[in-house]
Amino acid sequence: MTNETFRAVYETPGTYDRLLLRHFYGGTEDVDLVADWLTEHYAAPAADLKVAEFGCGTGRITDAMAPYAATMALADYGEVMVSAVARKFPGAETICADTSDAVAQLLAAERARTFDLVTAFWSLSYPIGEFFEEFSAAGVRLRNDQARAADQAGEFVRDLVRLVAPGGHLLAMLFDAESPEQQLVTRAWEKVAPFPRGGRAYTREVLIDALRAAESRGEGTLSHTRLGGVAWAPDRDAAHEWFFGVHFKHHPQLMKDSELAREVDDFLESFEMANGGVAIPSGVHFIDFHAVAHPYASLPIGLES
Ligand SMILES: C[S@@+](CC[C@H](N)C(=O)[O-])C[C@H]1O[C@@H](n2cnc3c(N)ncnc32)[C@H](O)[C@@H]1O
Repeated sequence: MTNETFRAVYETPGTYDRLLLRHFYGGTEDVDLVADWLTEHYAAPAADLKVAEFGCGTGRITDAMAPYAATMALADYGEVMVSAVARKFPGAETICADTSDAVAQLLAAERARTFDLVTAFWSLSYPIGEFFEEFSAAGVRLRNDQARAADQAGEFVRDLVRLVAPGGHLLAMLFDAESPEQQLVTRAWEKVAPFPRGGRAYTREVLIDALRAAESRGEGTLSHTRLGGVAWAPDRDAAHEWFFGVHFKHHPQLMKDSELAREVDDFLESFEMANGGVAIPSGVHFIDFHAVAHPYASLPIGLES
């Protein structure tokens, strides 16, 4: 077990890329899900899209979008992440801020309805969750006014949608809180503090509910797919670090919990392959909100007038 500090995964150079496991859905890696979606929607890259990405990390999925982009605004709360993407994409605008602040900043700069693609991959549950709970090494504390948190989170999603240009997309990938892996993660974090609404699916529910409401207001159409797949660890050590470094973020209480260490070991053993790799069942929610005047724009060409 490493001695890395709490949240080192997002705050220490190189740690995220080192600990991240590759994820495959139906044999397609997560980054290629995005690449395939781009091909399906835009055919060949024409470098003409205005792209915003929140929680961009080290630019893993940005790589797939870059050939399609005329401009990119890349935001992450981690300085380490922002300096990595600034090096990798020197022409991009970078924003080092919490996603909700970065969104507010772009709206205040009159950039509403200017982005063809507003994206967030494996990162939206954090800013949504922060309306409901405060997360620090000292523990996780539920905010006092949960009804207010729900209103603020809904407003945050509305603001994300406001960034999307007419005809553009809000695209997100979110973890599947119901998978056995994520249920184990939830049980572990419940040792630190209970989650609002009794689990970790609530951030996805907040997002989907707000996007459905936007669809009902005629602002666009929501498509939402859940894909089953696998997180693949080359060996047991990598799988162990995936849990303790990425899922548990080296949280001091969870790092010294021997019962939890045993539970993770038993879990990983059950998915160990003959070649020493560990194939952890995983799920991803792929969410696409298309900003079109709904329902009129959803008719086939010829029937819409
Ligand atoms: C799981 S990583 C995903 C990174 C990248 N999108 C990818 O798929 O490789 C989550 C990212 O979200 C960032 N993050 C976490 N909470 C955030 C917040 N509240 N605001 C902005 N970024 C946040 C982390 O620094 C990290 O880069």
